[in-house]
Parts: sequence; C-alpha cells; structure tokens
Amino acid sequence: MQDIEKLEQELLEEIGNVTDLDALESLRISALGKKGSISVMMRGLGQMDPTERQEVAPKLNKLKTTVGNAIDEAKSGLHAAALDAKLLQEKIDITLPARPEPMGRIHPISQVMDEITEIFAGMGFNIAEGPDIENDFNNFTALNIPPEHPARQMHDTFYLPEKEDGSRQLLRTHTSTVQIRTMLSQKPPHRIVVPGRTFRSDSDQTHTPMFHQIEGLVIDKISHMGHLKGVLAEFCKAFFELEEVTMRFRPSYFPFTEPSAEMDIRCTFAGDHVKVGEGDDWLEILGCGMVNPRVLEHCGLDPAEYQGFAWGMGIDRIAMLKYGIPDLRAFFDSDLRWLKHYGFVPLDVPTLGGGLSR
Ligand code: DAH
Repeated sequence: MQDIEKLEQELLEEIGNVTDLDALESLRISALGKKGSISVMMRGLGQMDPTERQEVAPKLNKLKTTVGNAIDEAKSGLHAAALDAKLLQEKIDITLPARPEPMGRIHPISQVMDEITEIFAGMGFNIAEGPDIENDFNNFTALNIPPEHPARQMHDTFYLPEKEDGSRQLLRTHTSTVQIRTMLSQKPPHRIVVPGRTFRSDSDQTHTPMFHQIEGLVIDKISHMGHLKGVLAEFCKAFFELEEVTMRFRPSYFPFTEPSAEMDIRCTFAGDHVKVGEGDDWLEILGCGMVNPRVLEHCGLDPAEYQGFAWGMGIDRIAMLKYGIPDLRAFFDSDLRWLKHYGFVPLDVPTLGGGLSR
C-alpha cells in the first residue's frame, strides 16, 4: 500500500514539473501505457487472493484515475500555453501607421482629373458625368453635327453593331455629349465640368484609341467670352501652379460653338522637356467658344433668353506636360514600375488649401 501512495506522489510531482507536451506523453506511457507502472500493478491484481484484491483494487483504480486526470489537466494547460506563445509571436499592432512601401499608387490621370475638378469646384462648378456608350443625337446631331457633316468623319468613331431599327450606338468621341445630357435633363443656369473617357479609332505616338477629356459648360443669361477667358486664365494659373500663365486665343471652328477659339499657352520646348510659363513657343491645350444657338435649340432652350460658353480639353496631354511624362502610350501599359515612378501616394489628395501637387 505504501507503494501505491508513494507512486501517486511521485507521478503527480513529475506531472507538475513537465514543461512540454512530448515529455508529458512519455510520462503518460510510462505510467498508464501497456507496460506502464500502474498497468503492471493492475495486472498483479490477478495473482492476489480475494481479500487482498478487494482492498487493493479500489486504491489502484483511484490511482489510475487521479494520475489520468492530472495528465489531462497538464495537457490542456500546456496546449493553452503553446497557443498563447504562438499568438504572441504573430501579434500585429493594428495601431501602427501604414508603411508607404507596399502601398498602391494613384495613376497620374486620376490625380490630374482630381486636381482639375478641385480647381473648378473651387470656382463653383458642379461635376457631371455621362456614359461611355452614347447615341448619335447626343454625340453629333444635338451638337450641330448633322449626318453629312465632315466633322463626323474626322472623329473616327467606334460604332456598336446596328440595332433592328437601323440605329447604331457609339463610343463617345468627346465629353461634349454631357453638355446635351445636362441641358436636356436639368433647368438652367448650368455650371458644370465633365471629366471622362473618350474614344476614337486613332493610334500612334501621340494618340491612343481611349483618351480622357474634361468638358466645361456655363449656361445662363449673361455669361460671355470675357468670362470664358477669365475662368480659363484662373484655371491655368492654379493647375500649373504659376503666378502668371500667358494665353493666346486663336479663332477656330467647332460646329457646337460660335464664335470658336483654340487656346494656347506660352511655353518653351528648349531643354529636355516642355516648360510652361516662359519661352517663345505656344502649346495648344483646348478648344472653346460661345455655345452655338442651334445647340441650345436642340436642347429646348430659347437662344434669345439663354447663352453661355463651353470648352473641351485633353487631360492626358496636360498630365504629361505637368509631370514631365515623355510617352503617352505608357499611360495604359499597366507597368507597375512605371506607376511606382509616376504615380501618386493615395493620401496625397489634391486640395486647393493643402496644395495640388507636392
Ligand atoms: N469636343 C471637342 C473635341 O473633342 C473639344 C471642344 C471644343 C469642346 C470646343 C468644347 C468646345 O466644348 O467648345 O475636339
């Protein structure tokens, strides 16, 4: 009997000292396994006479249960400790700031669109948008480009398959479509800018089949060419972040404006890239004019009552210009190395107060 109590004491002490699961398992085998100390003693019960067995058996059973329970308890303790250690090792401090390295970049076109819309929003313009897929009326007819007009050929339009009624939808060739959508769906006065994608079947070093424009439209009862010039002058100074940008308006022709002009800004081509704000060269950046009365009529507005101005500007080219990006096609190559070099950190949101570019 001494043996049983002694063994229990010894085993419980050993169990208490075990520090890892493997050691605990060996201990379990040495006590409760087939050849373990307790199992051997249990087997010895067979050779005992009945009275002795009656006395010893319950004690052995108690020993077996006590040791078994102690091992189970130690096991769950060790499991919990192992889990705690693992969790501690994998701990992530979610309050740490995001590291700049693995962060994505904002494409220069998105950045420049944000810069431009921010400037016009600051002047009180609303931002309007329209779909890439358009109908003939919004892209051409309502803009005073009737079916036989030569401007239709000049636009190299992508057409969708003909519908049953013979009409064809198209990919809009300019953002001017949203002038029409706005005038047809809302009451004047209008003061909107429209950034978006545009499409023409044209591809070479300076043209891609998909490109970006931003359109502007002001319709009320008083706005005139002087206001147009003022708005564009303010825009150029803010966008190029210069005190003064010299502009030049050249007479031009667009079916949807009368009179029409193209606007150039002073720059220099000397050196390895174009520099705005100085020099003797001129760079054309947009088309503009007073909205043609026929366009107003197509939208149900009375030209005797309403008037206004509009402009359309390519975004891709002025993004290249502002950020010294040499090749237009690289914009759409999705090359991550290029994006890392020319892209913008997502938190550098352009604002008039905080600065457009940093
Ligand atoms: N829609 C013209 C183009 O894509 C650009 C343009 C010129 C827009 C004059 C205008 C404008 O609103 O008044 O070439």
